[in-house]
Amino acid sequence: MPPPHAGPGRIRIAVAAAGVNALEWKLRAGQLRDVRPLELPSGTGGDAAGRVDEVGEGVTDVVPGDTVFGSGTDTYAEHAVLTSWAPVPPGASVVEAAGWPTPFETGLRVLEVLTAPPGATVVVNGAAGGVGSVVVQVARARGVRVVGVAGADNQDHLAALGAVPTTYGPGLRERVAALAPDGVDAAFDVAGSGVIPELVALTGDPSRVVSIADFSAPRYGALVSTGVGSDRAAALREGARLVAAGSLVLPVTATYPLDGAAAAQRRSATGHGRGRLVVTVP
Ligand SMILES: NC(=O)c1ccc[n+]([C@@H]2O[C@H](COP(=O)([O-])OP(=O)(O)OC[C@H]3O[C@@H](n4cnc5c(N)ncnc54)[C@H](OP(=O)(O)O)[C@@H]3O)[C@@H](O)[C@H]2O)c1
Repeated sequence: MPPPHAGPGRIRIAVAAAGVNALEWKLRAGQLRDVRPLELPSGTGGDAAGRVDEVGEGVTDVVPGDTVFGSGTDTYAEHAVLTSWAPVPPGASVVEAAGWPTPFETGLRVLEVLTAPPGATVVVNGAAGGVGSVVVQVARARGVRVVGVAGADNQDHLAALGAVPTTYGPGLRERVAALAPDGVDAAFDVAGSGVIPELVALTGDPSRVVSIADFSAPRYGALVSTGVGSDRAAALREGARLVAAGSLVLPVTATYPLDGAAAAQRRSATGHGRGRLVVTVP
């Protein structure tokens, strides 16, 4: 592919690492062909971190040589154009930061939609992965009680993040209700595992249930949140601030070289993530 260049309001980075998100294998598998058809040959990847090497017209907050993380297009590559970015905070590695953009933006966005005040109880279905673990930590830092749902192997991990852990599968509604005797104020479905009716029953109000992966949610009166119209750069700066303050960690579980990107996407497609998968660029 010819190298891309930064247009107005954008920057180009020499990519050090690219974060792996489920969106990429879903696009590749054709699951989103009706809304986002691919033109082949196509690049892949939306998140990355690296050194700025081109600054488009109108960009004033970075200069070539700065190290940033952010979102753009075709980021599994030597060079990528970013549309939103923030500086990598001191003490963080560029590989770690490559895994942050989508979970930071999504997690912070959904917490705005859920509007859970301190003392409220929120259920997070799919709490141990990239997006879920950001939501658990930020909600806990805001004084919100979180019942986190993940597999048996991730129960200790959820507890370490500050959630009250429970498992998915039959009896979910009863297990969560027992762990939240004062009721559930809001529910966030990250996993898209077909539990919207149970989450609506737990909150007693479909407008208190938000999914990012189950597009049947509106059928039950629940909401679907997409990133359309979101101020991504503000979310990235806020996420970096929380990392620097010690209230948010989102570690890398595994790195793959650029020519191992297919294996990284296959692992992402299992839907059993803890922490982040990152493709590193030589
Ligand atoms: N709409 C948006 O704006 C948006 C943005 C970002 C991501 N997404 C979507 O959100 C989803 C999650 O993304 P992610 O990066 O957080 O994924 P991830 O890192 O792979 O995490 C998936 C999580 O779901 C849990 N899980 C798996 N099966 C489950 C089940 N049956 N019930 C409950 N939890 C289950 C996993 O726990 P175990 O490993 O313990 O099973 C893990 O905690 C993806 O489908 C992605 O496409 C949407």
